[in-house]
Amino acid sequence: MVRPSVLVLAVVAAVACGLAQPGAADLKTNYYASTCPNVEAIVRGAVQQRKQATIRTIGSTIRLFFHDCFVEGCDGSVLIDSTPGNQAEKDASDNKSLASEGFDTVRSAKAAVEAACPGTVSCADVLALATRDAIALSGGPFFPIELGRLDGLSSSASSVPGQLPEPNQTMDQLLAVFTAHGLNISDLVALSAAHSVGLAHCSKFSNRLYNYQPGQPTDPTLNPKYARFLETKCPNGGSDSLVLMDQATPAQLDNQYYRNLQDGGGLLGSDELLYTDNRTRPMVDTLANSTSAFYKAFADAIVRLGRVGVKSGSQGNIRKQCNVFN
Ligand code: HEM
Ligand SMILES: *[C@@H]1O[C@H](CO)[C@@H](O)[C@H](O)[C@H]1NC(C)=O
Ligand SMILES: *[C@@H]1O[C@H](CO)[C@@H](O)[C@H](O)[C@H]1NC(C)=O
Ligand SMILES: *[C@@H]1O[C@H](CO)[C@@H](O)[C@H](O)[C@H]1NC(C)=O
Ligand SMILES: *[C@@H]1O[C@H](CO)[C@@H](O)[C@H](O)[C@H]1NC(C)=O
Ligand SMILES: *[C@@H]1O[C@H](CO)[C@@H](O)[C@H](O)[C@H]1NC(C)=O
Repeated sequence: MVRPSVLVLAVVAAVACGLAQPGAADLKTNYYASTCPNVEAIVRGAVQQRKQATIRTIGSTIRLFFHDCFVEGCDGSVLIDSTPGNQAEKDASDNKSLASEGFDTVRSAKAAVEAACPGTVSCADVLALATRDAIALSGGPFFPIELGRLDGLSSSASSVPGQLPEPNQTMDQLLAVFTAHGLNISDLVALSAAHSVGLAHCSKFSNRLYNYQPGQPTDPTLNPKYARFLETKCPNGGSDSLVLMDQATPAQLDNQYYRNLQDGGGLLGSDELLYTDNRTRPMVDTLANSTSAFYKAFADAIVRLGRVGVKSGSQGNIRKQCNVFN
C-alpha cells in the first residue's frame, strides 16, 4: 500500500514543480544570485534608458520574447543574424515585422550585463528580463521572472513556418498553435493583451477593411466608426503604414485591450475573435473588469511563456554576443 501513495506524491510534486513541462525544472527566480547578483538592476536600467530613447522599445521587446519562445523555445535564437551560409529565424519570410528596437534593447542590456558578469547570463535570460521590465515600465504588472535558460546553438528561418499564430486564423487554429507550445486557452486570452501596446502594419489587418468576404467589404465584428478611422490610416492600395494597436492607451500595458474588444475595437482579426468566440468571451469580460485579475493572469501567462522549450546542458551555451554564435 506504500508504493501507490509514494507514486501519487511524486507525481503531485513533479506537477507542482513544473517538471511536467520540459526544461521548466531548470529555471528559478534567483538563478544568478551568486554569479551575477545585480543582473536584474542592470537590465532594468538598460531597458529604462532604451524606453527614454524610444517608446517602441516596449512593444518590440515584448514581441521579440514571444517570437523567441514560440520558435525553437526561449533560447535567444531569434536574436541571431543571418550569415552567407544561414538564413536565421529573424529573417524568415515575414522579416519586416520584428522591429529593430527590440534587438537594440537586448544588445544594450547584454553589453551592460557582460561588463559586470562576463560570460554568465544567457541572451535568452536577458530577453526574458528585459520583457518583464518592459511590461512593468509600461504600467503592467511587476512579477518575479524565472531564469536559467541557455542560448540555443542554431537559428534557422526554416523552423519558423507554422510556429507562430496569424492574425486571420480561426480560434481552433490559434488554440492549436498555443497548445502545441504547452499553453492553453487562458494563456491565449491573457497574452493577447500584449497588443495593448505597440504597432501593427496595415497589411496585417486591412483584409478586415476591404474585400473581407464576397458582398461584405468590412468585417462585421469591427466597430464601424473604428473601421472608418482605420481606412484613413490604411487607404486601400496605399502604403503599408504602422497603426497603434490600442488607440485609447497606446503606451500603457493595461486591460483597456479587453474593453476595446467589447467595443468592436480589436485591431487584428485574432484580437476581436477573443470576444466573438463564446469560448473566450467570458474571460475577456472578466479581465476587462478587473485590473488585479488582469495583472495576475498576464504575469502568470508570461511566466509560462518563458518556460516553453527551455534548453539545458549540451543543448545550449551562454553567448557572448546575442546576434552571433560563440
Ligand atoms: C494570439 C495570436 C497573436 C497574433 C496573431 C499576433 C500577431 C501580431 C501581428 C500581426 C502584429 C503586428 C506586426 C507588424 O505588423 O509589425 C503583432 C504585434 C505585436 N505582438 Fe502579437 N500576435 C499574437 C500574440 C502575441 C503575444 C502572445 C504577444 C506577447 C506576449 C504579442 C506581442 C505583440 C506586440 C507587443 C506587438 C507590437 C510590436 C511592436 O510594436 O513592434 N503578440 N502581433
Ligand atoms: C526579407 O526577406 C526577403 C524574402 O525572404 C529577402 O529578400 C530580404 O532580403 C529580407 N530582408 C532583410 C532585411 O533581411
Ligand atoms: C491568412 O492569410 C494568408 C495570407 O494572406 C492566407 O494564405 C491564409 O490562407 C489565410 N488563412 C485563413 C485562415 O484565412
Ligand atoms: C490554463 O493553464 C493554467 C496553468 O496550468 C491553469 O491555471 C488554467 O486553469 C488553465 N486554463 C484552462 C481553461 O484550463
Ligand atoms: C458556443 O456556441 C456553440 C454554437 O452556438 C455551442 O454549440 C456551444 O455549446 C457554445 N459553447 C459555449 C462554451 O458556450
Ligand atoms: C463587469 O462590470 C459590470 C459593471 O460593473 C457588470 O455589470 C458586469 O456584470 C461585470 N462582468 C463581469 C464578467 O464581471
